[in-house]
Amino acid sequence: MSGLPNYQCSCGRSYAPSAERWRCDCGGLLDLPAGPLVWNPRAGDHSLWRYRDAIAVPGRELSLGEGMTPLVDASLDGEPGVRLKLEYASPTGSFKDRGAVMLVALARLLGASRLVADSSGNAGTAVAAYAARAGLPAEIFVPAGTSEKKLLQIRGHGAEVTVVDGSRKDTAAAAAGRVEATGAFYASHVYNPYFYEGTKTYALEVFEQLGGTAPATLVLPAGNGTLVLGAYLGFAGLRAAGLVDRLPRIVAVQAERCAPLAAAFAAGREEVAPVAPEPTVAEGIAIAAPARGAHMLRAVRETGGTVVTVSEEEVARSHASLAARGLWVEPTGAVAYAAVRRLRSEGSPYAEGEIVAPLCGSGLKASL
Ligand SMILES: Cc1ncc(COP(=O)(O)O)c(C=O)c1O
Ligand SMILES: [Zn+2]
Repeated sequence: MSGLPNYQCSCGRSYAPSAERWRCDCGGLLDLPAGPLVWNPRAGDHSLWRYRDAIAVPGRELSLGEGMTPLVDASLDGEPGVRLKLEYASPTGSFKDRGAVMLVALARLLGASRLVADSSGNAGTAVAAYAARAGLPAEIFVPAGTSEKKLLQIRGHGAEVTVVDGSRKDTAAAAAGRVEATGAFYASHVYNPYFYEGTKTYALEVFEQLGGTAPATLVLPAGNGTLVLGAYLGFAGLRAAGLVDRLPRIVAVQAERCAPLAAAFAAGREEVAPVAPEPTVAEGIAIAAPARGAHMLRAVRETGGTVVTVSEEEVARSHASLAARGLWVEPTGAVAYAAVRRLRSEGSPYAEGEIVAPLCGSGLKASL
């Protein structure tokens, strides 16, 4: 209808986007067609919409100025070759704004009258903010134990909060149940591939901020994988367009206490089996059964990357070390940096060359 690319499933089915569709009739995950992207950054636009020729959704009018986050050289801290991308400087305090603006713009284009999302917190706050901006009611499902400040933020934007007394998985099931019962648009950062149209701009910014080059390594936190997969898609699109000749290695980082991707990678498997998670301070990546696990494994392997885990102590030490240098993140926001420190202290080959790692979420919304 609107020039939007169709959803595609690996079973061969394809669907024009509609407000009700969020997975394939076979139960499979939907993706968008891949290919070269159009590289035409618009000078003067200091948001991710400067890359609008590479983004499949028109949604610039909803912008809160998301994207174009600072890329800070960490060499002053005795870490030459490491750059930190301050995703916590996003409008709602996390990189999820990149994808949320896409989903809300899509929902509006498709004529949705109500949104449902589930989240460990940050995606929910982002969807709530952009829904408010679009004048659409939203209901956000979160697991019990989600930071009070994130709940306050979601409610502040006028969205309804439903706290699910169960796991992150139970929360997703409750949201999907509400979607099925009401016909609401499912603004899911896991299922809706348009979310990745937003997170792929992380890669486009890194490329532009490094003067039109790819770093050797991207170290990225991995829960459901929205940044891992977005960064992969962005660099894959740049490579297909002939703008880079290789993909940066993707090092995906998980919390030791909830590491299904790390287990699958180490075992050489192609699918990710669910784990029984233990509580972790890295609440944002505590995903025991990531739906796009196989996609993440393929992205990591294709780039010659790896999966590492970090302990609670490493996250705490990295959080404190960032804070001592003026960078105030939530614990999950310190996970990628903790992995960088570990790789460098071990003299890992993955630490060779230029490394870029995000600080994903603001410390202002953590209950520390
Ligand atoms: C601060 C922060 N970092 C990293 C992540 C991980 O993102 P994903 O689950 O898409 O891999 C999240 C997800 O909520 C987050 O809130
Ligand atoms: Zn299918």
